[in-house]
Amino acid sequence: MSFFTLYSRVLGQLKPERTLAIILTLANLGVAGLQFVEPIMFGKVVDTLSSAARHTAEEVWHESFHLLGLWAVIGVGGILANVLVALHSDRMAHRRKLAAMAQYFEHVLELPLAYHLDTHSGRLIKIMLQGADNMFGIWLSFFREHLSTFIALIVLLPMSMFMNWRLGLVLIVLLVVFAVLSILVMMRTEGAQREVQEFHSELAERAGDALGNVGLIQSFVRLALEVQQLGQVMGKVLAAQYPVLTWWAMVTVLTRAASTLTVITIFTLGTWLFLHGQTSVGEIVSFMGFANLLIGRLQQAMGFANTLFFQQPGLNDFFSVLDAKSAVAEKPGATELGRVQGHVTFENVSLSYGDKQAVTGLNFDIAPGSMVALVGTTGAGKSTAMALLHRLWDPQTGRVTIDGLDIRDVTLSSLRRNIGVVFQESTMFYRTIAENLQVGHPDATEAELIEAATLAEAHEFIMAQPNGYQTLVGERGRTLSGGERQRIGIARALLKNPPILILDEATSALDSVTEAKVQKALSALMKGRTTFVIAHRLSTIRDADWVLVMDKGRIIEQGRYDDLAKAGGAFTGLLNRAG
Ligand SMILES: Nc1ncnc2c1ncn2[C@@H]1O[C@H](COP(=O)(O)OP(=O)(O)OP(=O)(O)O)[C@@H](O)[C@H]1O
Ligand SMILES: [Mg+2]
Repeated sequence: MSFFTLYSRVLGQLKPERTLAIILTLANLGVAGLQFVEPIMFGKVVDTLSSAARHTAEEVWHESFHLLGLWAVIGVGGILANVLVALHSDRMAHRRKLAAMAQYFEHVLELPLAYHLDTHSGRLIKIMLQGADNMFGIWLSFFREHLSTFIALIVLLPMSMFMNWRLGLVLIVLLVVFAVLSILVMMRTEGAQREVQEFHSELAERAGDALGNVGLIQSFVRLALEVQQLGQVMGKVLAAQYPVLTWWAMVTVLTRAASTLTVITIFTLGTWLFLHGQTSVGEIVSFMGFANLLIGRLQQAMGFANTLFFQQPGLNDFFSVLDAKSAVAEKPGATELGRVQGHVTFENVSLSYGDKQAVTGLNFDIAPGSMVALVGTTGAGKSTAMALLHRLWDPQTGRVTIDGLDIRDVTLSSLRRNIGVVFQESTMFYRTIAENLQVGHPDATEAELIEAATLAEAHEFIMAQPNGYQTLVGERGRTLSGGERQRIGIARALLKNPPILILDEATSALDSVTEAKVQKALSALMKGRTTFVIAHRLSTIRDADWVLVMDKGRIIEQGRYDDLAKAGGAFTGLLNRAG
């Protein structure tokens, strides 16, 4: 995104409070206008004083008193107005910053799993915090400084031309010098600054990744190595940043030098004009006031350009995340899927992850309420097939229907409300056990929580925790054992009470005694629901109505459990090997 597009997009984020933003802009412009009064007043006072010899003391006092009084009223009034406007702009900037973060957060959570598999959460968090911070800074300085600088530039230049066009020309030359130098350096350093940003993101990504895997680092004694690798990235940040800083330092020196030269030129030219009777001392003083204002403003404007320049890559990242589209986007006019019967069909469904074919030509038709077993070697595509059912991905060919409706024609939330999933690894929020149970059913009462936990054989161990249901589990539930997490995952699905259930290795982390107990709960849970069970332990799928045997992404056999068991094919082979 170019400099100006980016700038207007940042300001565009204020749109939800458009009216207030416009009022504040106008008020700021008004306040900014007051700044020109000062040099004019100053010049007038000087003129009054320098003509003092021709007037009586009383006249001089009278005149000065009026001028100074007016000056004071305008000054104090300006300060008051300024504070009021600044206060409101600050509040708005704070509000919009949080709103921008909320918008980003919601958008990122909506992005498909495929996006998150490619983009580390550490990077996404950094982009959010940095982007929001940068926009906040730009909004604040837009109201506090940019506007008055902008106004100053567009008013001061013509005004100085009007006052004295010869002196005015000097200022215009200075403006051109500033603009040309800034643009040149920006063009020169843009690529390098983008690189710096990329390294910064890499830094956040690495740090986030290391923090998320503390156990791995400690057990494999990788501490020194991780720190060293982080240090290497930091080295790359600095190596890319230094040349950019050098260029900008050079611009600062050159523009400052140009400013000093300008002041000297104005004095010299002013003296010459005065000697030739073409200007008064007061006019030169006013003009010097103007020149100083203008130079100050130019330097400020370059400061903003500089800041925005350094923030540009980060802001671009922020907006490109916001612009990322969901791969499983909802169709306009998608219908709400009510509670379904659970008739599931796959019609010639294929999916590849990039170049890698994951499942090919899946065909099956499952009657409502059936229990389906998916078996096959690891990597056969079982989890992928189920991911297609709750639309983590859309198939490249074919379609998946529930109760005869293509799942791409219904809203994602209504689809997912109908499907409960229990994984081998139940992920957890860094919240209490009760909150982790409630994820699928936020209004569940305590009695309902206990009932579900009891069915899932989880109540006992939960009560053994220091604070029972109010115990905080560690990040990702790391203070619980794998089997405990899994039972919470099952209880969670029980509470959600969906008509379609996916159990992907849901009991694999349990010992055989607990598994037998949980199995009972699961059998109860499966009644009246279409259930897909993925299990490597074939003993757990003995009650299946239908079996799908997968291999290398294809279904190589399907049929009723008893039929397949006797058929002498792949499934019979699996059963025999399992003993
Ligand atoms: N997000 C992904 N990106 C790329 N490849 C993937 C992704 N997820 C799975 N795969 C690949 O797709 C293939 C099928 O994986 P899938 O998880 O469906 O197997 P599975 O039958 O569930 O295996 P397991 O029994 O080990 O759970 C595997 O080769 C796997 O490496
Ligand atoms: Mg799997």
